Amino acid sequence: MSESMPPTDGFGRRIDYLRISVTERCDLRCAYCYPRLCTDSSPQDVLSAEEVVAIGAGGVRLGLRRIRLTGGEPLLRPDLEGMISRLRALPGLQDLSLTTNGQKLAGRAASLASAGLMRVNVSLDSLDPEVYAAITSGGEVGAVRRGLDAALAAGLSPVKVNVVVSSPAGLARAGVGALVDLVEREPIHVRFIEAMPTCSQAGYLPGEGVLDFLRHRYELARALGPEGGGPAEYYRLNGSRGTVGLITPISQPFCDRCNRLRVSARGELRPCLFSKNALDVLPAVRSGDPVGEVSSVLRQGIAAKPRRYGEIAEPSGIPAMHVIGG
Ligand code: 5AD
Ligand code: SF4
Repeated sequence: MSESMPPTDGFGRRIDYLRISVTERCDLRCAYCYPRLCTDSSPQDVLSAEEVVAIGAGGVRLGLRRIRLTGGEPLLRPDLEGMISRLRALPGLQDLSLTTNGQKLAGRAASLASAGLMRVNVSLDSLDPEVYAAITSGGEVGAVRRGLDAALAAGLSPVKVNVVVSSPAGLARAGVGALVDLVEREPIHVRFIEAMPTCSQAGYLPGEGVLDFLRHRYELARALGPEGGGPAEYYRLNGSRGTVGLITPISQPFCDRCNRLRVSARGELRPCLFSKNALDVLPAVRSGDPVGEVSSVLRQGIAAKPRRYGEIAEPSGIPAMHVIGG
């Protein structure tokens, strides 16, 4: 079967990356992502495994090459390996990744890898057990560490860590020294992310502030990032196996390089993270020709992508990240 070329949007950007959220549920409550205020306390999974696969297949039919499964916490779904093996079998798919909080990763990394998962991003805002428990409302940092080890042992590569930074105090709480130790010892890529202003999340620390902090303490050299082609800028610390990276959606938006579409766990397609109006994918997914119909809704989503988020909204007032799909 011949593969389609990735489609381009109205601004010449090549769109090849589809993020599908498989659940809004999460076993943690990071305030910047799952604010109690704006959140349905008992969300149900809307998309079946088959529907997730149909959405992925619709994307690949359109020429998208890379799929990430997100949440909420994807590992809360026992049928995740089944989705992964069916997605991985799609001809033309080149990259299949997962974002997880890592709480349950230690016990699943091997089965995810053998199902066909290629790589993983793990949310880990601090390596300090008490700080981590406070940020996540009860998460266990040891479980995440074991999850990272299991991911490396299972051959998932690259392994990336996400650290969301809301303020200078937040950076201090992150315990940068311990995160840097991790990068020095293991082929792990730690990315500091400017907190996006969703529902109740307000502040962020500009990436430049993180960079200053690092420059004062370590020798940094610009580095090529790990595979995956995301928007981060990476640095190697003397001799480190891994890298540290900065993701700066607010201070230095990367809209001109945007390559993605997002489908939420409710089946809402967001042309942009900040889109107020989402397209509903569910009727297409539940039609007689799910793959063809989804493919055509995704095409409409690509056509609706704004040039940059500033054109459609101030980056505030969007739903919580666990609803959009982080
Ligand atoms: N700003 C930036 N990143 C966020 N994430 C969740 N909420 C936010 C936010 N408000 C990221 C976390 C997590 C992923 C699921 O989404 O880093 O790793
Ligand atoms: Fe859960 Fe991840 Fe959101 Fe934290 S960032 S609440 S771990 S989905």
